[in-house]
Amino acid sequence: MRIDNEDISNGQPLSGAGSAAIHAGGKMNAEHAHLTPIYATSTFLFDNAEQGMDRFSGKEKGFIYSRFGNPTTAKAAEIIASLEAFKLTDQEGQPLQLKAILHASGQAAMATMFLSNLAAGDTVLSHYSIYGGTHEFLYDVLPKFGINSIIADLREPGQLETIIKNNPSLKIVHIETPANPTMFCIDLEAVTRIAKQNGVLVTVDNTFATPYLQQPFKYGVDFVFHSTTKFLNGHGTAIGGVLIGRNIEFMNTTAKKYHILLGSNSSPFDAFLLMQGVKTLELRMEKHCSNAAVVAEYLSRHPAISQVNYNGLPDHPDYELTQKQMRHAGAVLSFELGKGMDAGKRFINQLNMCVRAVSVGTVDTLLSHPASMSHSGMEREDRLKSGITDGLIRMSVGLEAIEDILFDLDQALKDL
Ligand SMILES: Cc1ncc(COP(=O)(O)O)c(C=O)c1O
Repeated sequence: MRIDNEDISNGQPLSGAGSAAIHAGGKMNAEHAHLTPIYATSTFLFDNAEQGMDRFSGKEKGFIYSRFGNPTTAKAAEIIASLEAFKLTDQEGQPLQLKAILHASGQAAMATMFLSNLAAGDTVLSHYSIYGGTHEFLYDVLPKFGINSIIADLREPGQLETIIKNNPSLKIVHIETPANPTMFCIDLEAVTRIAKQNGVLVTVDNTFATPYLQQPFKYGVDFVFHSTTKFLNGHGTAIGGVLIGRNIEFMNTTAKKYHILLGSNSSPFDAFLLMQGVKTLELRMEKHCSNAAVVAEYLSRHPAISQVNYNGLPDHPDYELTQKQMRHAGAVLSFELGKGMDAGKRFINQLNMCVRAVSVGTVDTLLSHPASMSHSGMEREDRLKSGITDGLIRMSVGLEAIEDILFDLDQALKDL
């Protein structure tokens, strides 16, 4: 698969990621349909027995069975790979080649990534503040298979060298930046440099940033995954995930094998929804982020709020890092009400237009309570270390008129 920018536009170089999101993957299909059709089929026909054998042996390229691969899911994966690689080059100065595999969920993409890279006796290192489901997978599931998981404060990349020296079985450093829901950021360049010097792989959950705001492959990371359920789909219409890797051979063999054997294929319909959503990624992210910046500023001045975690505010500890490695700070933030958990519940119940729901990245503004919802599977002690206090509220800022978002927050915060 070639994904240099000229290939996706009949030789015309593309200057904007928005154009890549619309044109990546090419325009043609057998029926010349304008949009990539939903190939709702479980299996594919062979002209004869020899062709079936050749497809299975890999001698002939082509689809076999939709759990192994499907034209709609393949096209959606190619678009995301194009966005992650957009305008990046490899060590020879050639357009960076990446391979993506679409999954049924972000969790499935994450599971393929860890299971295809790790074996009993290996160790994974992650930062404190990561998505609750990833945390549970690393600390409840992997140890049952003899894989050890450790946590450290990766916001101090200097510590990494010592951790690597003390853990010779360390195989992967896993980063989520910005992290859910504290918006703590990790220095992608520094962590990747130290890990690479020591032969350790780097994996990144890029869900909150999207490739429009941040391209981890620029720093040489090995794998990126997304919950496409969030900003990439953008409309809350499907659960999905994608795993992207720079080692094409590994992606086409080992990662593909785990994807197939775990049965974690995306449905073609969900892939179709993802492809429609991703076309407006640039437009949406620009508006999401400008709305979020105004909301963060408003909340930081409100007397009922004791703390706002938004990496776009100059007093956030990772503000400088955000400026260095992201286009904008993103559209998720969290905040603490001065009067604790009860005030938090009252606030959430008083919202009118904004929506009470978990997830992030939809067109509407969503608010949730991580301690009792997305991170409820974590031990309280671990949760507190991750900065997720009992009263923390997470907000995914939507695309509504900013005046309407502020109006709703203002009335819900009254008398708290
Ligand atoms: C940062 C992050 N990573 C991964 C996931 C898991 O994705 P999914 O729910 O699509 O399996 C989520 C879900 O909330 C998330 O927020």
